[in-house]
Parts: sequence; C-alpha cells; structure tokens
Amino acid sequence: MPTSQTLRPGGGWRPAALLVKLGPFGESGLRLVRRTMPWEWRDVASQPLWMVAALVLALVVRAQRRGRWDPRACRVGLRGRTAVVTGANTGIGKFVALDLARRGARVILACRSEARGSAAVQDIRQRSGNDNVHLRILDTSSLASVRKFAAGILKEEKQLHILVNNAGASGLARSITEDGLELSFATNHVGPFLLTNLLLDLLKRSAPARIVNVSSANHWYGEVNFSHFHGNNLNYRMGKVYSNTKLHNILCTNELALRLKGTDVTANSLHPGMVMTEVMRNYNWLLRFLFNLVGIFFFKSSEEGAVSTIYCAVAEETEGITGKYFDGDCSLVLPSPSARDPALARKDFEFCDQLVSNL
Ligand SMILES: NC(=O)c1ccc[n+]([C@@H]2O[C@H](COP(=O)([O-])OP(=O)(O)OC[C@H]3O[C@@H](n4cnc5c(N)ncnc54)[C@H](OP(=O)(O)O)[C@@H]3O)[C@@H](O)[C@H]2O)c1
Repeated sequence: MPTSQTLRPGGGWRPAALLVKLGPFGESGLRLVRRTMPWEWRDVASQPLWMVAALVLALVVRAQRRGRWDPRACRVGLRGRTAVVTGANTGIGKFVALDLARRGARVILACRSEARGSAAVQDIRQRSGNDNVHLRILDTSSLASVRKFAAGILKEEKQLHILVNNAGASGLARSITEDGLELSFATNHVGPFLLTNLLLDLLKRSAPARIVNVSSANHWYGEVNFSHFHGNNLNYRMGKVYSNTKLHNILCTNELALRLKGTDVTANSLHPGMVMTEVMRNYNWLLRFLFNLVGIFFFKSSEEGAVSTIYCAVAEETEGITGKYFDGDCSLVLPSPSARDPALARKDFEFCDQLVSNL
C-alpha cells in the first residue's frame, strides 16, 4: 500500500495521496487520479488569481443572501402597536419578534413550549430593552389550542395591528391529530387559518393592520387535493406534504385579501429564502448534515431570513399592498400558476372555512 511519502517525494499531504490511501484503487488508482487531478493545493495557493476569484465569488454569494431592504435603515416605530408572532421561540419568528420589540411594539410570542417560549421572551426583552414582550401558549396543530389562544387574546388585548403566522414544520411523520386532520396540514395551514379568522374582527377594529403568512417557495411543488386534509392520497416523499400546505397558505391569503377589501387590513404571503434554522429537525441526519453544509455557504442566517417577513409587517413600502407574494429578497414576485388561480383560492378558502366550523 503506498503511503503519502511514497506518493509525494518531499513528504506532505496532497489530495491524490489521500484518495489512494483511502481508496481501493492502489497504483492504478493513483495513475487515474494523477491524470484527472494533475494539481496540488500549493499550485492553487501560489496563483493569486485563484485566490482573488475565490474571494470575489465568496463575497457575491454572501451579498446575494442579503435582502435588498435593510430593517435597520427602516425608521418605522411601533410604540402603542400590538403584534402576535407565532413560532417565535426560535429561527425566523424569533428575529421577527425581536425586530418588532425593538420598534417599541407590544409583542406576543405565540409558542407551544412554555420553556422555549419563556427563554425567548427573556432574550428578546434583554436584547430589545422592551419589557412589553409576553408569552402565550399556542399549538397550531390543535384547534382547541388555537381557540383557547384566540379567546385569551380577544379578552386581554384591545387592539391587534400585526399578525405574523410564522409557525410551521417540515418533514413531520404521517399522523392524524385529535381533530382528525393530517398533522402537517393542521400545523402549517388549518391552525393558522382558524387563528386568523378568530382574530379578524380585532384586526379590523385596529386598522390599519397587517396579516403576514410565512409560506415557502416549495409551494411550487405543491398540489391541491382536499382529501389531503384528512391524510388521504398523500405522498410523504421529498417534503411533498409540506409543499402542499405552503400552497394552501398562499391561496387562502389571496382570497382573504379579497374579502378584506376596504377594511385597511392587508394580507400577504412570502418566501423567506433558504434559511439556516431548525426547519430540518424532522429529517434524517444525512439530510440535516447536507442542509447545514450547503447552508454555511449559501443560506441565510435566521436574522437575515427574518427580513422579508419584517418587510411585509412594517415597511412603508408595503403599506396598502395586499394579496401579494414576496420573495426572500423582499421583491414582489409571482407565485406558481396554481397559487394565483382565484377560483381555486375561493374554493380552498370556503373548504377550510367549512372544515374549521365543523370541528
Ligand atoms: N428555514 C427555511 O429555509 C424556510 C424556507 C421557507 C419557508 N420557511 C418557513 O418559515 C417558517 C419558520 O420556520 P423556521 O425556518 O424558522 O423553522 P424553525 O426554526 O423550525 O422554527 C419553527 C417555529 O415554528 C414553531 N412550531 C412548529 N410547530 C408548531 C406548532 N404545532 N405550534 C406552534 N408552534 C409550532 C416551532 O416551535 P418549537 O420550537 O416549539 O418546535 C418554532 O418556533 C415556517 O413556516 C417555515 O415553513 C422556512
């Protein structure tokens, strides 16, 4: 078996040596590698052009992760305003809640875990210097929990100006909830749909108000089939169920926006970009590893990933805009053809409305 010394007179490490040492090819493998990889790391390092090109590429990749809109440059204040952010204990939702708290809003973190939610409240209070940040328990997968949470808000809050439906999960295993709903559909769509409807009158009374629904570019792979809501005819491969739920998010947001015409309450949906959060927690270790590996170079941090949601929730530029879909860089873009089908949106909204009123 050749060693790295025999492979490279003068000693030292090079990729070809390592490949042959580890691989099953022996000397013929080495010849093949020499033919196909006739370079060494020091060749790369000794060429300043490579270094400059790599640096420029890294800067370009880094720059494109950032949205066009900078929340720190946005001077909109929210003193006297109330906001609810679901799934605000981690990831995108936590940075959205932090930004709203920094602007002086009364912020209600709607989280399912008392421990994780309380830790986020303490952290956000400390970092924003705003003590008007509170935790209320909400599990979007349970309609009873949604109703209890909404009843609490209606009792405690005189006004509600911003509702951010951010809580969501991908890769959940096949399961049916106590309401007879498929778990991903309940968590990502039916729970948030019911929550929005229960808080709608309060939002209207507080107008101008904004509803922001965090969807995903994955909705392009989604399809609408109403039997999915009860767990029938679903394909659980490659995040397909998640994609379906994210398509419903956009359809119902669009129909809601139409129904809210003239109320000064807007409703928009968005894709936050590819963001390094805990979103892959329900996938196997290999997919998580690959997501994190690629993410180091190409994905946004949670703080960067919160920008398009904050843009929809507070920016002057989005004032009065409704029924639209925004991209991770805060541009107004077209969602998939199914997502912009008004007849399908109306049918979807009516179906969900009927569904929650019967449960
Ligand atoms: N990260 C991305 O690349 C990406 C891309 C497109 C869209 N999105 C969307 O962005 C939103 C935020 O995701 P994220 O990336 O920040 O993921 P995350 O780090 O996993 O955060 C998800 C949040 O949702 C909460 N949540 C999940 N199920 C819930 C339930 N049944 N009831 C209440 N809260 C629940 C989680 O609470 P626990 O901590 O208690 O579980 C957590 O606070 C999601 O809607 C996701 O679909 C993310």
